Amino acid sequence: SRGGKGGYPFYMEKEIHEQPDAIKDTVSPHIVNGKTSFAEEGIPDSLFRENQNIVVIACGTAMHAGLIGQQLFHTLANIHTDVAIASEFTYTNPVIKPGTLVIAVSQSGETIDTLEAIKFAKKKGAKVLSIVNVKGSTIADNSDYCIYTHAGPEIAVASTKAFTSQASVFYLLAIHAARLNGLLSTEEVAHYLDELNRIPEIITQILDKKSFIQKMTNKFLSHDQAFMIGRGLDYSLLLEGSLKLKEISYIHSEAYASGELKHGTIALITNGIPVVALVTQSALASKEYSNIREVQSRGASVLLITRQSLYKDMNIPEEDTFILPEMDDLFMTFPAAVVMQLIAYYTSSAKGYDVDKPRNLAKVVTVE
Ligand code: G6P
Repeated sequence: SRGGKGGYPFYMEKEIHEQPDAIKDTVSPHIVNGKTSFAEEGIPDSLFRENQNIVVIACGTAMHAGLIGQQLFHTLANIHTDVAIASEFTYTNPVIKPGTLVIAVSQSGETIDTLEAIKFAKKKGAKVLSIVNVKGSTIADNSDYCIYTHAGPEIAVASTKAFTSQASVFYLLAIHAARLNGLLSTEEVAHYLDELNRIPEIITQILDKKSFIQKMTNKFLSHDQAFMIGRGLDYSLLLEGSLKLKEISYIHSEAYASGELKHGTIALITNGIPVVALVTQSALASKEYSNIREVQSRGASVLLITRQSLYKDMNIPEEDTFILPEMDDLFMTFPAAVVMQLIAYYTSSAKGYDVDKPRNLAKVVTVE
């Protein structure tokens, strides 16, 4: 037998490769006759018509999926959305009024911080919709509605396929909410659903270039810190990319909103420091390239991740530049996420670590 790792040295690599199927299996049940549908889950249309405030509660990687969700609800559905770290939620006396929907996100469905936040929100009268990977888990049981991701079992502590599957549900939900509120034309809905359907193929294109990404990670091996800079959706995604790198390679990495660099952290950019710059958002690219110049002028060694249509010659060597396949701006998170996962994975494995079992971390955390 090839064992549970399917021929890969680590579960994480196997799970990264399972993403095209995980996303297809998660998305396809919710596209019915060319429209978004959550009828199977018994989710009434009123949930997204009557609730014009959303609070996402989650921990770790699942919380980062919520940050992507926040921007989608804002951009597509015009629904105000906050994202709360579940363990902090109850301490901040959150305002839950009629019209607030709580969305809880959890791979395991057993994270106690998230569960306690759900119970608190329910006591305050909120309806809770959860996005969960493990069937019949406690969080699924304690929610009013549950949408399952179909990522299959995730073994590696560092979450990969669960994250992109959770994100894909947020895309579906934001398109759904926008459609129900009359904010998208039939053509726009069709366009966004087409983009969702393209994700598996786009991810496969990234996986085909994994040895290029493996070489890119040499840059991190002689450093104990790194920065990642981007704006908008790119910044949200880099928070996750940075967490991945920290979790499994023990390199201290900080994701920074590029525009905020000048308000502080730029002092830490010194000669040779690796800086990952992610440039996928058309409207933000020119500002982002100025930020890249800023860090370059302080000696940073930049790894540029962008797309052909936004590529700008910044004197960055070809081997330090990764060109992502083109998608609608909103969907560039998927190819970028996979590149970030592979960067963390290859860095950890090159350092000889047990990628699947990073020190001091547990896959499921049932203590507060
Ligand atoms: C742990 C894991 C993380 C995960 C977080 C939330 O800290 O190490 O990878 O993102 O819990 O887990 P959940 O199962 O609720 O998504």
